[in-house]
Amino acid sequence: MLIGVPKETERGERRVALVPDIVGRLAGDSVETLVETGAGEAAGFPDIAYEEAGARAVPAGELYAQAELVARVRRPSAEEIAALREGQALVALLQPLSDPSIADALAARKVTAFSMDTIPRITRAQSMDALSSQATVAGYKAALLAATTIGKFFPMLTTAAGTIAPARVLVLGAGVAGLQAIATARRLGAVVSGYDVRPAVKEQVESLGASFLELDVEGAEGVGGYAVALAEDEQERQRQLMALHVGASDAVISTALVPGRPAPLLVTEEAVAGMRPGSVVVDLAAEAGGNCALTEPGETVVRHGVTIVGETNLPSTMPLHASQMYARNVASFLGLLVHDGALHLDFEDEIVRDTCVAHEGRVLLEAGTA
Ligand code: NAI
Repeated sequence: MLIGVPKETERGERRVALVPDIVGRLAGDSVETLVETGAGEAAGFPDIAYEEAGARAVPAGELYAQAELVARVRRPSAEEIAALREGQALVALLQPLSDPSIADALAARKVTAFSMDTIPRITRAQSMDALSSQATVAGYKAALLAATTIGKFFPMLTTAAGTIAPARVLVLGAGVAGLQAIATARRLGAVVSGYDVRPAVKEQVESLGASFLELDVEGAEGVGGYAVALAEDEQERQRQLMALHVGASDAVISTALVPGRPAPLLVTEEAVAGMRPGSVVVDLAAEAGGNCALTEPGETVVRHGVTIVGETNLPSTMPLHASQMYARNVASFLGLLVHDGALHLDFEDEIVRDTCVAHEGRVLLEAGTA
């Protein structure tokens, strides 16, 4: 099996799909790796490190022409899809739920494509769970961004120049990213509270030393532990109750998502206007439209004196560990697909079924709908 690792081409993307350490571990199992020249540079992995791990650094054209399986981070561009060959396999964060046309395009090229963001949330697939690994990075970085933006200390300090009260941080959505943001803000000494519509996470929030905000809103947990969308009147009540707590916070980190839907609006313009000037909202849901009404995806803006960070790709700002974690997810996934140097697909296996979006010219959009 010849695996190809191209350089990511999406603007601002610094991650790479496989890191040298993982290339070294894959080698030998009838697997060889081709890496596009410079593919890992932005993540801190020079070509020489890949070559020492047994890979060959080649230009993109050669990689696409020779590789049997292409491993990427982001979905390929139209030109990159055109470069894929019939029968070639592709593994990437394809996001078929937010744009199903990617599956059509790949099926038309007769590519066998797997989406790393639709790995089912089951114990057996934990080591392949790229959504979780990248959300861990995003949650951590969101807390750091909040800390460096507010112009205040996070911890309480008693100094000769006076006593400083700790910052108050509110984390909305306590999934993987939210829990990591809570843990990081706590380590920095802030007073943290967490909120989620799934009451089951109360214990997890409290175990991190944060308090759980109860809003008397009827929430629900759907398939796979994900939240389901609230009814419109419950959403409105949630926003009104939330505004009070937002106003009392120095930093709001929002991470609330419902798979396949726009992000729920939790922080209204009035709620932002109620925050002290100099406060911050870091909106990790920006790519899905944002949890804050004033979020501009991809931008940092100041409204009513409050900085609103709408970064859409925080994992890429910590490319070394984000790539390392993603590469482990990919390697673990390949362990399921590749045997004796060839692709063996067992469509009885729910991991294969949930991730394969295109095969032999057909679109298989069961992926991600579970
Ligand atoms: P996510 O990124 O889809 O959503 C983030 C959080 O937003 C969730 O906790 C969700 O409940 C919350 N949310 C949605 N609507 C909201 C609203 N209106 N107000 C407040 N909060 C709202 O979720 P993520 O982080 O991908 O995890 C979802 C679930 O999957 C969690 O229960 C997690 O523990 C579970 N999980 C299970 C794994 C496994 O068993 N292998 C691995 C990773 C996650």
